[in-house]
Amino acid sequence: MTRCVVVGSGAREHALAWALAQNTDVVVTPGNDGIAAHGIACVETPATKLEADLFVIGPEQPLVEGLADRLRAQGKIVVGPGAAGAALEGSKAFMKEFLATADVPTATFATFRDEAEALTYLASMSPPYVVKTDGLAAGKGVLVTGDFDEASNDVLDKLRGRSFGAAGTTVVIEEGLDGQECSLLVLCDGTDVVALVPAQDFKRVGDGDAGANTGGMGAFAPMAAMSPALVTEVMDKILAPTVAELRRRGIDFRGVLYAGVMLTPRGPKLLEYNVRFGDPETEVLAPLYGDGLFDLLVRVGEGRLAGASPRPTGAAVTVVLASHGYPQGSRRGDVIAGLGADGQLAERVDGVTVYHAGSALDVRGQFITDGGRVLAITGVGATVPEARRRAYEGASLITFEGRVMRSDIALGAI
Ligand code: AMP
Ligand code: GLY
Repeated sequence: MTRCVVVGSGAREHALAWALAQNTDVVVTPGNDGIAAHGIACVETPATKLEADLFVIGPEQPLVEGLADRLRAQGKIVVGPGAAGAALEGSKAFMKEFLATADVPTATFATFRDEAEALTYLASMSPPYVVKTDGLAAGKGVLVTGDFDEASNDVLDKLRGRSFGAAGTTVVIEEGLDGQECSLLVLCDGTDVVALVPAQDFKRVGDGDAGANTGGMGAFAPMAAMSPALVTEVMDKILAPTVAELRRRGIDFRGVLYAGVMLTPRGPKLLEYNVRFGDPETEVLAPLYGDGLFDLLVRVGEGRLAGASPRPTGAAVTVVLASHGYPQGSRRGDVIAGLGADGQLAERVDGVTVYHAGSALDVRGQFITDGGRVLAITGVGATVPEARRRAYEGASLITFEGRVMRSDIALGAI
């Protein structure tokens, strides 16, 4: 049987593994206890020491560090860009220069290491103020605020290495954009591109988009507000010039170009690129492609995307359950009721799958919290309302002390 290796240990990798396991043999490295509880093999062996027909790299860190390059040097078929392409996510300053060269619509911006220059530029902007760390910060390095003092304190905290260490000591300050956000994940085989179903992610921790930015508290797909005409516009004005610029620079990008797009009154603008599957977007996208995912990803890795015609079906909604204190911190060791020794209560609900991120099995065989985002509960259905009902019914059956959950994921879409 065909064999796939998935690299990573979160709910995104769980969802990829779950879909790929429908028609291949999947091994996840390192994976987690929840993935293993689904009967999918998890091993500590590094990817470079494993054999498989396809390697799919989940997180940004190993991509930025060149894991895809090392695997390709061994002759492996890989989904995920090499280090040169991954710099689009690894450095926001690099990404913004790249977008400017490629003439991709994006917020006006400037990059700073110097405090006085940064504060002068900030004072020249109008609210909302947007301050970003240059380096990787797990989705938490961005401040968007209407409060000038908060923005200037944030600039100083980042530049002085107080908030994100070395990743923060270069900052990007940019124009605040207004509108609905869409996650358009696009498969790219170095030349051809295929857009996946548009999804929406909920980045703030609280209902009504209140509170701090997180890694993502839920998602749904398809996002109806992102019409086929808008998808075409984003493909033409944002993705096409990006792929052309990658090729001009000699970068053979085989993987996912995740475009974070703001649908502004003046047309779609790119907020950022990620160079990998989104989390939690993948928890809604992978189920929609199901057993068609493997064929698509092999085509990405082999450079054969031309002519691919994926057939996603239905709708999906995912609701993230995070641990006490998230996103400022997280708490380990709270016993999760409704999983493991208690039985998989949520998965008895029609159309519901529980993807594990920051969970672990304790010595008594009960699942406990073991990170910030703990679980992603996905409901699939014929429509977004049906998928949403199922996701929340599933989520209601899983409880733990301090559980953090939004109650309005996909609410605006129905
Ligand atoms: P990023 O990591 O760059 O995607 O930023 C995280 C979140 O901050 C985005 O999903 C947006 O919600 C918000 N954001 C980023 N850049 C801007 C901007 N220029 N204007 C308004 N909101 C932004
Ligand atoms: N959903 C946000 C991310 O994957 O970065």
